Amino acid sequence: MTYKSSIKNKLTNIIIIVSTISSFIGYGSFVYWYMQNQHEKTIEQSKTVAIILSQDIAKLTFLNEVSAAADITSNLKSFKNINRLVIYNLNKKAVYQYSKNNKSFPIKNIKALSDPIIENNILKTYLKAKYQNNHLGYVYIEFQIDSMLNVIKENIFMLFFILLSMFIISFILASIYAKKFTYPILNLVTYLAQIDTLKNIPSLDINVNNEYGKLYDEINTMLKRIDESNEQLKIASVAFQTQNGMIITNKYQEILQVNDSFTRITGYTKEDVIGKKPSVLSSKLQSDEFYKKMYESLNKKDFWHGEILNKNKKGEVITESLTIHVIRDEYYQVLYYVASFSDITQEKLTQKKLAEKENILIQQSKMAAMGEMLANIAHQWRQPLSVISTISTSLLHQKEMDIEINKEYEIKSLNKINKNTQYLSDTINDFKNFFNPNKDKNDFFIKEVCAKALLLSNADFKKLNIKVIENIQNAKIYGLENELIQVIMNILSNAKDALVDSNPKEKLVFINSIVDDNNQIIITIYDNAGGIEENIIDKIFEPYFTTKHKAQGTGIGLYMSNEIISKHMDGSITVSNKEFDFYNTHYKGALFEIIIPIK
Ligand SMILES: Nc1ncnc2c1ncn2[C@@H]1O[C@H](COP(=O)(O)OP(=O)(O)OP(=O)(O)O)[C@@H](O)[C@H]1O
Ligand SMILES: [Mg+2]
Repeated sequence: MTYKSSIKNKLTNIIIIVSTISSFIGYGSFVYWYMQNQHEKTIEQSKTVAIILSQDIAKLTFLNEVSAAADITSNLKSFKNINRLVIYNLNKKAVYQYSKNNKSFPIKNIKALSDPIIENNILKTYLKAKYQNNHLGYVYIEFQIDSMLNVIKENIFMLFFILLSMFIISFILASIYAKKFTYPILNLVTYLAQIDTLKNIPSLDINVNNEYGKLYDEINTMLKRIDESNEQLKIASVAFQTQNGMIITNKYQEILQVNDSFTRITGYTKEDVIGKKPSVLSSKLQSDEFYKKMYESLNKKDFWHGEILNKNKKGEVITESLTIHVIRDEYYQVLYYVASFSDITQEKLTQKKLAEKENILIQQSKMAAMGEMLANIAHQWRQPLSVISTISTSLLHQKEMDIEINKEYEIKSLNKINKNTQYLSDTINDFKNFFNPNKDKNDFFIKEVCAKALLLSNADFKKLNIKVIENIQNAKIYGLENELIQVIMNILSNAKDALVDSNPKEKLVFINSIVDDNNQIIITIYDNAGGIEENIIDKIFEPYFTTKHKAQGTGIGLYMSNEIISKHMDGSITVSNKEFDFYNTHYKGALFEIIIPIK
């Protein structure tokens, strides 16, 4: 792998630069040291020169031996770096002068012995000339010393060699170290690059006890965590792909994610809706009030559940059972809305069809009761009709015979006819009302309901000599009057059938009603027909359960009654067997209890 600014190259460069700079500094220090050393050495040399020359200086100054000067000159010639030399006697008078190029030069007087000075790469020094501890005079020496440039020039090859070897050594070192440092990183990079393609990521080997080992360790931990959260993500994504349509929006209600079921139910693809608001699904059939309540619930409870009418991509209305949850952060700010819904359009349709079917059933059972009731009505009509017939016949007779009719008698007779006609009209009205499919709820009295139910069943009861004992606490109920009449008639009809079957000596039916503390009306109807066998008592509310002959019963009566009371009147109907005493006789019979809340 190659990189534009690879760490390895950088490291090599840094090492080379550092070693080059340090070799320069090293060389510079060496030159500085050399220069310093050269001065000290020269000063030392000047002392040595003074000592070497001391005997000749003594000869020259004390003994005035001229030959001594020639000796001094020949001695000095061997010192290549001495440019000039002057010898003074004790009176500070110059007695000898030497110049490397044999040229004379102006001689300075000695003022005082001072430290050596360097001017233009020439070291100038004054020394005391001594011989066997006797002060002879003074010596002034000028030494030629090397300039820094000269030193460098002289050593240029050496310098070049040092730099080259430094460069080579540092390059090799840099390469080795760079490799050592970058190898674990490159190793790591290669490893990390593979992670995408590897299914089961093997852990990195941690056998290095340094920062890299720590790094590997951290990366292993990190990868383990990523692995774990990947696992959780997998679970979450599986959970997300349920049969329910799912929508996740941000706090602005812009759709972030939907699942496949969403597409299946609504027909919209992910691309259709991402970034849009869920209102793209709106059917506009829901009121503002509906949405207001939804948001109230979301704000207060972080939750809403209900049914909603939406539109699919084709524009068809679908009924959804929808649940929305609000996800908040630790500061209670909304992060996401998560909505889950199922398509209950079919269910609703089936429900509607069932309700329609049920209505038909109710109507059918009413029709079935009609025959029975017609007999009742015919029976009820027999008496008043015969009264009317008798009176009118008598009146007609008297008119035909020209018999003077007492006016008072005539009015009384006509009133009687009127009263009976009214009775006929009332019964036919009741009958008509009962078959009215009108399902509006209204206020009615329980006493009236019982009376009407009894009236409509009365003929049979009278014929079969069944005694009805009523004990009604009157109360106003809001609900479906005809339906309740039907329920009571069903129970009375069953009691009648059971009484005919068991045929006790005295046939009794009791109807009681009472309003309890919870403001509900409790209607109890029981007979003395012996009760219902325990093994079937739990089944009698099931549809089509009957113990009767085909011609006599279909098994719909109690099922219908239960549906009416529980679904249309929010009440309940239950059955039990009851044992009781009536006029010193012990009886047993079935007891039906209807409980309806009074609104
Ligand atoms: N008062 C009662 N005494 C004894 N058995 C009863 C009584 N009331 C109902 N049953 C039993 O409950 C069964 C179911 O009653 P249900 O009214 O539902 O149907 P059915 O009377 O048999 O037929 P349908 O009412 O449809 O003409 C009856 O067949 C009968 O066995
Ligand atoms: Mg019945």
